[in-house]
Amino acid sequence: MARITASVYTSHVPAIGAAIDHGKTHEPYWQPLFAGYEFSKQWLREHMPDVVFLVYNDHATAFSLELIPTFAIGTAARFPIADEGWGPRPVPEVVGHPELASHIAQSVIQDDFDLTIVNRMEVDHGLTVPLSLMCGQPTEWPFKVIPFAVNVVQYPVPSGRRCFALGQAIRRAVERFDEDLNVQIWGTGGMSHQLQGPRAGLINREWDNRFLDRLIDDPAGLAEVPHVEYVREAGSEGIELVMWLIARGAMADVAGGPKPRVAHRFYHVPASNTAVGHLILENAA
Ligand code: DHB
Ligand code: FE
Repeated sequence: MARITASVYTSHVPAIGAAIDHGKTHEPYWQPLFAGYEFSKQWLREHMPDVVFLVYNDHATAFSLELIPTFAIGTAARFPIADEGWGPRPVPEVVGHPELASHIAQSVIQDDFDLTIVNRMEVDHGLTVPLSLMCGQPTEWPFKVIPFAVNVVQYPVPSGRRCFALGQAIRRAVERFDEDLNVQIWGTGGMSHQLQGPRAGLINREWDNRFLDRLIDDPAGLAEVPHVEYVREAGSEGIELVMWLIARGAMADVAGGPKPRVAHRFYHVPASNTAVGHLILENAA
């Protein structure tokens, strides 16, 4: 059967992608940030999955105000890299896993979560920056990717509680897939940031670190935090963090298994307008 072996959490700041693409990772501004991902790249080489279920948000790239799916699962064989205004990032096309994605769609929808099935979609920095942070600059991505887009851009957005429950349904779905596959689930976006208005540039280190503590030790309690607290404490774009609860809900301890091992934890300010948080949790073998 397929198994979720680990979860990875990381911010997706677009300027990080630009720094990689333009060879700036060793500049003094960027070096401390990329140093925090050196461990992660080595860890990934040693824990290489077959498939990554990548929870991210689209930034009005594939979707727009014309069409706003709350949860959208990518069932295509390939996902081209989007042009977000400066040409597509020079990174490999994303190769999907249509069989596993369709199976998860079937199982999760039967489990009462309404997913939008997407057979054609371009992917933006929300998906490609986490891949670059974890994999560097390969000529092809070393695993298949199931893109899972969550609406955290246009209200109403899903609650943390619903995201956490959805993660549990995704775990059940993966474990019902017959083929032996090593699957990781990644939760991306965040941490505190606000890109517009009088509070633009808001960073809240204390709240972010408490979020990381609770994501590790008290995810069910953390899932009860209402939207208004994310927006007040972590800024308008801090709401991206609800996506981390999908990945956390898919870990074994939530279904009564052993606690995950914290393989890595990292926090850094600033990256562009954003606090960067990163965590790797391993399920027991
Ligand atoms: C920034 C962060 C984001 O999450 C995003 O989607 C766009 C920009 C930023 O910090 O600049
Ligand atoms: Fe974003």
